[in-house]
Amino acid sequence: MTRPEAIAGVEHVDLTGRTVLVTGATSGVGRETALALARLGARVLVHGRDRMAGRAVATELDDLGADSVFFRADFANTESPVDLADAVAEHTDELDVLVNNAGAYVDDPTLADGVELTFRVNHLAPFALTRTLSDAGTFAGDARVVTVSSAVHPRADASDLTREAVTSVDDYDGLQAYARSKLANVLFTRELARRESDLLANCCHPGLVPGSGLWRDASFPIRAGVRLLAALPDPLLERVADSSRSAAATSVFLAAGEYDESGAYFSDCEPTTPSPAARDDELARRLWKLTEDLLE
Ligand SMILES: NC(=O)c1ccc[n+]([C@@H]2O[C@H](COP(=O)([O-])OP(=O)(O)OC[C@H]3O[C@@H](n4cnc5c(N)ncnc54)[C@H](OP(=O)(O)O)[C@@H]3O)[C@@H](O)[C@H]2O)c1
Repeated sequence: MTRPEAIAGVEHVDLTGRTVLVTGATSGVGRETALALARLGARVLVHGRDRMAGRAVATELDDLGADSVFFRADFANTESPVDLADAVAEHTDELDVLVNNAGAYVDDPTLADGVELTFRVNHLAPFALTRTLSDAGTFAGDARVVTVSSAVHPRADASDLTREAVTSVDDYDGLQAYARSKLANVLFTRELARRESDLLANCCHPGLVPGSGLWRDASFPIRAGVRLLAALPDPLLERVADSSRSAAATSVFLAAGEYDESGAYFSDCEPTTPSPAARDDELARRLWKLTEDLLE
């Protein structure tokens, strides 16, 4: 199976001397992203919740010479992203690339410290992690921030991103909550690019990966749908969906490739136009302020 760095056309890039942090690297797209960046020579720090899986990935990365460290942090906890940023700063002088890949799909209506859980894990956590690393001066001068969004983001719009909406689970719909968090990822990237000219901030849709762990907590119809897809023979599956390996290509491209603009949304290693709401700069500013308020 073709490696993500080959699909991205960056297999010639040498990341020796660069340090990368990939969140959610214990499985799926994040694990494949971490392995690809290690093969390119980077030192790869990995994050996840599952200690056994995290240690196993770190060992695989070490076998590639990546001098890896595994950090455990549950992004459902408000303080975890800040603690993670502090721990990372203790292990590296300069972080060259942050891949905000960790993500969850939550079917049961759940509030975590007063905020809807999907929004907390998929948006508040990468926001807090990125801001804490930035405020502490942990990023290198030309650092990159890659945030993994989804092509599902157009299901959500501004009405999903009010304080009332993100702090309530009345009329909860797991897919809508997931779409909202992924719209927030694109808006966060846009506003981060506008505010921090030293950083190269971009986001992406990785592809549809029916075989990844993302769907384990989805509703029965969604789980059944992705299982059916995952059961397709490989040549057919490749036409309609991705493996975790091929889905890592766009993150790897943004982490290691030559694209030097900031604030874009990518799919299949190409800049792609996101939804109208995801291009709304006023909404991006409002979301930034709301996120800061929620994190206070
Ligand atoms: N799969 C798809 O079709 C698809 C499509 C579009 C976008 N995406 C996005 O791609 C990214 C990777 O997803 P994937 O498909 O590779 O799913 P995955 O295999 O389930 O991996 C998700 C990763 O996120 C971590 N994670 C989940 N909840 C967490 C929490 N509360 N705190 C900290 N870490 C947490 C998991 O850690 P543990 O396993 O250690 O708990 C795991 O490492 C996500 O942002 C997802 O939204 C996926």
